Amino acid sequence: MISNAEHLVDAASGSYAPRILFDPEIYELEMERVFGRTWLFLCHEAQLKRTGDFIATYMGSDPVIAMRQRDGTIRVYLNACRHRGMKVCRAEFGNARAFTCPYHGWSYGLDGKLIHVPHEEVFAEGLDKPGLGLVEVPRVESVFGLVWATFSSDVPSLEDYLGDANYYLEASFGRSEAGVELLDGVSKWRVASNWKLGAEQFSTDMYHVYTAHKSPYQAMGTKDTGSDETLQSSSAGGGQFSSPHGHGFGWWEPEPEESPDLDIMPALLREFFLDRRSDVVARLGESRARMESHGTIFPNFSWLYQGTPTIRVWQPKGPEEMEVESHVFVDADAPEEIKRAVSRFTVLTFGLAGLFEQDDGDIWSAIQRNLRGNQIRKNRLLNVMGLGEPRPQENGGGRLTGVVSEMGSRGYMHRWAQLIGSQDYPPADLLVERPIRSAAR
Ligand code: FES
Ligand SMILES: [Fe+2]
Repeated sequence: MISNAEHLVDAASGSYAPRILFDPEIYELEMERVFGRTWLFLCHEAQLKRTGDFIATYMGSDPVIAMRQRDGTIRVYLNACRHRGMKVCRAEFGNARAFTCPYHGWSYGLDGKLIHVPHEEVFAEGLDKPGLGLVEVPRVESVFGLVWATFSSDVPSLEDYLGDANYYLEASFGRSEAGVELLDGVSKWRVASNWKLGAEQFSTDMYHVYTAHKSPYQAMGTKDTGSDETLQSSSAGGGQFSSPHGHGFGWWEPEPEESPDLDIMPALLREFFLDRRSDVVARLGESRARMESHGTIFPNFSWLYQGTPTIRVWQPKGPEEMEVESHVFVDADAPEEIKRAVSRFTVLTFGLAGLFEQDDGDIWSAIQRNLRGNQIRKNRLLNVMGLGEPRPQENGGGRLTGVVSEMGSRGYMHRWAQLIGSQDYPPADLLVERPIRSAAR
């Protein structure tokens, strides 16, 4: 039984037990207490333009279908037939008027209602047809066109759940009045590691860029990008944000001419981003216009705005495996040639076989394999960097610190432990960062 969540994660002094990355019992509890009580990302509204457009995806361990209704709303259902549990939709996206189960042919309408049962007469009175619609996910909300749903009736509204993180989401998804669109096609691949390794890294870890991604910067840059000096000077401005709900965001604010990300881009894209700069400054201010960033909305939605604007969803597939879902997004009013160029550049950098993506996936799966070591797994893992530095965000709620820090990781793990450790919602607040001395023990 999980009796001491605070010991699994000690966010006050910056450490956590390796067990949270491989234990099947913890994984099962995560599905209930984390994925069952948070907002989970599904898709972008523009992917569901017409009545009957649908996306089939996952909320934690549950397959779901998000569907555009006749009244224009989006509703979400468990992708499971009420007869024997078969998936009623095996396509990942498309347009449909109804879903017919491939096993015995029960059919469900867009509104989830059970509309047809073959040989219904033989069921006699045993079939409560009105009560056997697809199970609906109760709450669906959107921000910046991004659609989220939750199984919980207790969590706050999506807007309150995101809180101050909205400010940072806007820096990536609100750069143009037209908003963003997700380019056609989602890439999915498996990584043999726990899903939290991706989510936690994106909530916080600008630190790894200097080492893990040094070689692609060196290979692709035209100046001395990738040198310690260049990367460090690009970090002179920037920061890190951590939210009480576990969201984290890290950013650099380099001068455009010093930006390593602009430097490695094809000229066409670089010019596009520089041309748009003054409009973005007018909308969002100088600081947010410059942000080259990554962030995580707790628990498993992450995004990058560093040259390649991409969304990652870290879908859990067991304690030691995840499916990475990668979407490319771009300002909806960008010219077609820019959309194509963003798509191509992403394939090269953060796509399935992208130079940067390979660095991370290789490291996460190597960590996962290492944690099978009987001695290795006895040592707690550390996220102690920058302890004691955080200051409250001026407009309340979150905390801020310098760009290279593990504050976001502590905030993420703390929220995870709160949810895992508590049957009640909202869970009690456990986090008070202790002075760095006590972290050494
Ligand atoms: S499992 Fe769907 S109709 Fe039987
Ligand atoms: Fe990385």
